[in-house]
Amino acid sequence: MSDTLLDFTQHTVLITGAASGFGRLLAQALAMRGANLALGDIDEEGLQATVDSLSIDASRVVSLRNDVASEADCKALVDAAVNKFSRIDSAVNNAGIAHDPAAIHQISESVFDRQMDVNVKGVLFGMKYQLPAMLSQGHGHILNVSSLAGLGGAPKAGAYVAAKHAVAGLTKTAAVEYGRKNIRVNAICPFFSPTNILNVDGYNTDEARAKLAMGSPMKRLGDPQEMVNTMVLLLSPGNSYMNGQTIAVDGGVTAW
Ligand SMILES: NC(=O)c1ccc[n+]([C@@H]2O[C@H](COP(=O)([O-])OP(=O)(O)OC[C@H]3O[C@@H](n4cnc5c(N)ncnc54)[C@H](O)[C@@H]3O)[C@@H](O)[C@H]2O)c1
Repeated sequence: MSDTLLDFTQHTVLITGAASGFGRLLAQALAMRGANLALGDIDEEGLQATVDSLSIDASRVVSLRNDVASEADCKALVDAAVNKFSRIDSAVNNAGIAHDPAAIHQISESVFDRQMDVNVKGVLFGMKYQLPAMLSQGHGHILNVSSLAGLGGAPKAGAYVAAKHAVAGLTKTAAVEYGRKNIRVNAICPFFSPTNILNVDGYNTDEARAKLAMGSPMKRLGDPQEMVNTMVLLLSPGNSYMNGQTIAVDGGVTAW
């Protein structure tokens, strides 16, 4: 018997930031479980590499170079998904960027603005266009990718922390606005996990990462595949009553 909790056949999932890291692994995990995929990323080459890695028929995937900082692009990805599959069962607003370490008194306006453009506007305008598609079909699930930095402070990451807290707030607001329409909105809040986003000053050496790992009760960072496995569980067709939650995947950091 196939496990219906992990069966995504006939399920269309939109993923932003699908060219690397969590987005690529999630596309792979869902493709092997039968999902149709609408994938976007600003990195066209990386996005094509993701599509090539899926080994699925072209009828099951649409991909688009897509900048989540642009409202028009957020709409374009939703339009591409609806045109191809006539539905979006789940949307994962995953695209995101970090910034070089800067204490509050060192944060520049341009760094802050870029965080808001990509990490906040990307989620807000993603949902703005995903929600009408879900309203018209009568159901849907949005999974926003926040961060542990969306639940608490993180030294020298103030602009990122502000952006990821905004994602948590938008998630809760959308959950209470659209719950009665059978649309649920949740967020995942991962601890550090070695993907390209950690290739910035302060996080890109073995020494720095070993130090970060000491901050977790499990004394290690999260493997990107572990984060994505949890995303798959959250997106499971069987996960149908969770709404408005910001789920930490952190090896126990928030239990300290
Ligand atoms: N890896 C971690 O430690 C960690 C921890 C907490 C949260 N997160 C969040 O997870 C999400 C995925 O990050 P990741 O770890 O896979 O990093 P990653 O850098 O591997 O992937 C991020 C993807 O987003 C894309 N992207 C960046 N700007 C974009 C834009 N304007 N429009 C469209 N796509 C854009 C990048 O090209 C890249 O493919 C991000 O939102 C990040 O903040 C990551």
